[in-house]
Amino acid sequence: MGVRVLVVGSGAREHALAWRLALDPEVGRVWVAPGNAGIPREDRVPLAATDLEGLLAWARRERPDLTVVGPEAPLAAGLADRFREAGLLVFGPTREAARLEASKALAKALMREAGVPTADFRSFDDELEALRYLADHPLPVVVKASGLAAGKGVLVTDDRAEAQAFVRALFSGRFGEAGRTVLIEEFLKGPELSVLAVTDGERVRLLPPARDYKRALDGGRGPNTGGMGACSPPSDASEALLGQVEAAILRPVLKAMRARGTPFTGVLYAGLKLTPEGPKVLEFNARFGDPEAQAVLPRLSGSLYRLLASAARGALEPEAVGVRPGAALTVVMASGGYPGSYRTGFPVEGLAEAAALEGVLIFHAGTEVEGGRVVTAGGRVLAITGMGATLEEARARAYRGVRLVRFSGAHYRRDIGEGC
Ligand code: AMP
Ligand code: GLY
Repeated sequence: MGVRVLVVGSGAREHALAWRLALDPEVGRVWVAPGNAGIPREDRVPLAATDLEGLLAWARRERPDLTVVGPEAPLAAGLADRFREAGLLVFGPTREAARLEASKALAKALMREAGVPTADFRSFDDELEALRYLADHPLPVVVKASGLAAGKGVLVTDDRAEAQAFVRALFSGRFGEAGRTVLIEEFLKGPELSVLAVTDGERVRLLPPARDYKRALDGGRGPNTGGMGACSPPSDASEALLGQVEAAILRPVLKAMRARGTPFTGVLYAGLKLTPEGPKVLEFNARFGDPEAQAVLPRLSGSLYRLLASAARGALEPEAVGVRPGAALTVVMASGGYPGSYRTGFPVEGLAEAAALEGVLIFHAGTEVEGGRVVTAGGRVLAITGMGATLEEARARAYRGVRLVRFSGAHYRRDIGEGC
């Protein structure tokens, strides 16, 4: 019959996780809570990712062999702790460990302690002090809310007045609790790299590296988003560089987390800048990246289930997965207006045609089924991944898929893969 796995979340990342887990020989059933229109109705559990009580009651009843948590919010709310207390195997950090993502102030303090390279910064709980510090800070400057803000709590600018206005907005509560502590940070130059590692707290298994395209518009212009595309592997992510990231960044952070009494198990995701002085950390995430997962997971051979379950048990089996040669590239199709306000409920056409293309995978994000049709239901609507022997082939395939899919107001970047 095979093991039964619950994936928590509703994005394309969770669709990709469910799809990849279902390929594993050990896995007999994958549920997704709450999932989206990409998940067969019978496999959807109609509970929000943040409905801890509901999920716990459901899991006590169904006893999944493994629960994999996609997004940060349920982790930060303590889902993994609650499941573990109930004797359920869960892949994801405890609430305390997830603070590595949920509190940028904590992550920064820990990096300073562990000697991990990161941008210089100061953190402020007081608006006037922050504004005073900003007054003669070199430009460009980076202003961040310390707490979780879905990638929208960050401003990178060379306009001092804009930075000041953002500091004021954060303290005035635009991001609620997330903005109560504000970081002002040195601007780092260089390409970005996402390194995701599965860990049991001590041992690590690096997944194939990826590059995320965070801005809304071509050429890296426009506001920051959750991510508009991804490619794997980036040409500048050499084995030597990844070894350096593991030795100088991931291992020291895991060690510091153990020393704090809050060992980190799950995905430790380092968002890096490749600066002339070497890789420096922009942020840590406590989960798979989205859209990185949609480009990284299809590249894995072996058993993702065995990798994640062994990490959750505290005895990581790093050889459970291998990496397929070739490349993958993911293009996000978003609702017109995203990351600002947008309308939903538009029918999505062409999904079956796109899914039938060779080397193309369609992962749903903000979609729902309405009257038997797939309609848009969120900011990021679909993630379309192309697989190929080369990045160029992967890219051509992904965009071939994108061109077949239509919904009113659809917006996507045309330049995913450039500079990869
Ligand atoms: P974060 O949520 O901290 O990863 O920030 C979101 C995005 O803002 C990053 O992916 C970068 O593109 C940009 N960013 C954040 N911090 C810096 C920095 N210190 N220097 C340059 N860009 C940054
Ligand atoms: N793609 C960025 C993130 O998942 O945070």
